[in-house]
Amino acid sequence: MRKTIIVSNRLPVKITRKNGEIVLTPSEGGLATGLGSVYREGNNVWIGWPGQEVTDVMEQTELKTELAKLNLLPVYLTAEEINQFYEGFSNEILWPIFHYMSTYARYEQSYWDFYIRVNEKFKEAILAVAEPGDVIWVQDYQLLLLPGMLRADLPDASIGFFQHIPFPSYELFRLIPWRVELLNGILGADLIGFHTFDDARHFIGSCVRLLAYHASANTITVNDRSVMVETFPMGIDNRKFESLSSTAGVQNQVQVLAKRFQDIRIILSIDRLDYSKGILQRLQGFDLFLQNNPWAIEKVGLAMIIVPSRDTVPRYKELRDQIDQLVGNINARYRTMGWSPIHYFYRSFPLEILAALYNLADICLVTPMRDGMNLVAKEYVASRIHNNGVLILSEMAGASKELIDAIVVNPNDANAIAAAIDEALEMSLPEQQHRMKSMRQIVAKFNVHHWVKLFMATLDDVKKTQQSMLAR
Ligand code: G6P
Repeated sequence: MRKTIIVSNRLPVKITRKNGEIVLTPSEGGLATGLGSVYREGNNVWIGWPGQEVTDVMEQTELKTELAKLNLLPVYLTAEEINQFYEGFSNEILWPIFHYMSTYARYEQSYWDFYIRVNEKFKEAILAVAEPGDVIWVQDYQLLLLPGMLRADLPDASIGFFQHIPFPSYELFRLIPWRVELLNGILGADLIGFHTFDDARHFIGSCVRLLAYHASANTITVNDRSVMVETFPMGIDNRKFESLSSTAGVQNQVQVLAKRFQDIRIILSIDRLDYSKGILQRLQGFDLFLQNNPWAIEKVGLAMIIVPSRDTVPRYKELRDQIDQLVGNINARYRTMGWSPIHYFYRSFPLEILAALYNLADICLVTPMRDGMNLVAKEYVASRIHNNGVLILSEMAGASKELIDAIVVNPNDANAIAAAIDEALEMSLPEQQHRMKSMRQIVAKFNVHHWVKLFMATLDDVKKTQQSMLAR
């Protein structure tokens, strides 16, 4: 029976040990939820790195057995591979360039050598389980060479690729010394998906200018093969957030938090630690808001959660220090004996607490400098079952193309952020409800299950069209 093989750098699972036993906690992330209906079925499998270094062979075998129970197959990376491929090429070259922070990139030859080596390692893991007729769906920027490597070994395979982060304009992409190899790698896929039309357009632009391939609308001809480039804005499991909002556990949490923040209007901000998220600029905007609106003292509070991430990469460590400093500075200037303007948490929280915060917050402030999609914005919207609340959203996030009823701001403009907070706090309830309702409809209709189905169905169509053209 034909199976689907999902491949991503990171497996959708957290691994811990309790009394020596391995404990696997499936990830709550959007991708894991959306693809849950796919990889957990039949012989389907999800291949990826377990997210930590496992050197002991016995431990590797034990973990592999446990993961197999969840249809997961590990690719183990050595410390050097983690350093050079993951922290290095993926997160010190591709991540900054694709998020328009070109001065952050460090072009090291060894990063590239390891990027090839690890993509090959993933290829070997796939070849060990792939059979004729299988569908292989590769995810994200850590594995850009993989579709091309697979195509070389499995010329007829059905291969999809989806990129979860932006694809930059040609002027940025061309900076990468290995740009041609990267494009050829991606083009090994039959269907290439991005969150937004602009990402797709930028990708096609780079293929035409760097490889001189012919593109007609959204189809690129690669030797005799037609490759389709399409937009699939990723959604969330909106039902999960809707129903969480009305569970007793979450409602109790909301009561506890509401008591704690009595009479204080809450602005919520949730991100992974990342310079692409515009955290410092957001804090500057909030600072300006407090400066311009003395009435907000003791009346408004910013609840800011930053989830630790990639803290072995120097830029991330640096950013963390800068955030600590700026939060300390703002709190010290505005705090009163019984009130702090910013409640800052540098840790992750269980989904129930996040759901309670989504419920409690009058405003959700999502202002990345660049973001492929941004699912926090969608999770906030889905959680607002009473249709109140205001979303302030960066025009640089993919989500802003869909959630047009948010207050949309330029994240570099501290004045605009400050004014948007003011506008959101002043917004009448009917206006809030009108906007939230229409955003909730969009989030419900284009949910993550719709995203998976549409991608898989399109890949199927592309493959059938290719085959019928060959038969002619
Ligand atoms: C983004 C990327 C994912 C990545 C995630 C977490 O959402 O698109 O590919 O897995 O960040 O980053 P990490 O480096 O911890 O895997």
